[in-house]
Amino acid sequence: MLVEKNVPLQPFNTFHIVAKAQTLVRIASEADVLALLANPEYAVQPKFVLGGGSNVVLTGDVKPVVLKVEIPGRKLVGQTSRHFIVEAGAGEGWHDFVAWTLAQGYPGLENMALIPGTVGASPVQNVGAYGVELQDRFESLDAIDLQTGKLFTLNAAQCAFGYRDSVFKHGAAVPVGPHQVLGLKDRALILRVRFALPKVWKPVLGYADIEKKMVEHQCPQPSAQQLFDWVCAIRRAKLPDPAVIGNAGSFFKNPTVTAEQCADIIARDPKVVHYLLADGAIKLAAGWLIDSCGWRGKSVGQAGVYEKQALVLVNRGAGSDGNGATGGEVMTLARAIQTSVYERFGILLEPEPVVL
Ligand code: EPU
Repeated sequence: MLVEKNVPLQPFNTFHIVAKAQTLVRIASEADVLALLANPEYAVQPKFVLGGGSNVVLTGDVKPVVLKVEIPGRKLVGQTSRHFIVEAGAGEGWHDFVAWTLAQGYPGLENMALIPGTVGASPVQNVGAYGVELQDRFESLDAIDLQTGKLFTLNAAQCAFGYRDSVFKHGAAVPVGPHQVLGLKDRALILRVRFALPKVWKPVLGYADIEKKMVEHQCPQPSAQQLFDWVCAIRRAKLPDPAVIGNAGSFFKNPTVTAEQCADIIARDPKVVHYLLADGAIKLAAGWLIDSCGWRGKSVGQAGVYEKQALVLVNRGAGSDGNGATGGEVMTLARAIQTSVYERFGILLEPEPVVL
């Protein structure tokens, strides 16, 4: 367990916002967590678990003890008649892990290529892209309860996955079917995640951007590697690379509305981008709502709305000189966007990142 004081967090958050952790502890193993919890100085202090920092907005120095998860490892741990079971340490980078599974001959994660962040953060958000969500490939995870020091394992049902949602984002009990599952926000540190990757693999197609690639390459049956390459190309064309322009991916969730609400919005603007969900509800493209309110390319201080995708807020400064956007500027811009979308469409957009 390595404890550091007054640690600059700019390299550890993909927005590249300047802030410090008063105390940062590097967690490279389960033993490091247990050592931390056994230490009377740190055991009782509030803690914040940091993965790849791709889903946080820092609005000042961080007072809770920052646990920077760096647990390595990736291996095949078992198989069933239908699946390879592959495990990765929580500190592994998500994209590298996806590339590794393909190289090993375990396809299934390719639609989620290039999502920033770590393997350990992926179940928290239930990350997803191009028709595949983490929950579609999830087997189980091991975590430690930061209050009791107990190790526990959760299956998919116990994680209570939803759209960009899980038990790890809730402090209160979460309903799962007829049961309640205790919320694990700020309480669990994820150590390892296992994925069930199909032995009989079929490409997940159907997204407009992917269908365009199929036509362009005249390839109706892409391999997993082709899909991986296409998803990388699609993302690089419309999403900013956090290594170059600080950002936290989509800043808002795509809102879900009833058919009546959608009809009301279509009456205001017939071009609204919307998708029918299996349960009859309708999902609206938040990027389109923000774009149609005129926000694309606008800024507040050094915080801006990305020119090619209005759902992504970016740090226009982000140099190591400290002249980048502050978390306050990002949140002022986010609130202004929320207000204008609410005034025009009656919809309150919900931010995706954790605001600290
Ligand atoms: N659109 C606009 N203007 C914009 C942005 C989008 O009109 O400025 C329209 C697009 O033309 C398209 C629609 O909105 O018709 C949806 O846009 P896109 O296909 O880019 O997807 P999205 O709904 O904005 C979601 C995820 C992304 C994921 C993509 C692909 C959320 C919040 N975002 O974006 O996830 O990569 O679908 O599956 O669900 C992330 O969560 O960080 C993320 C990048």
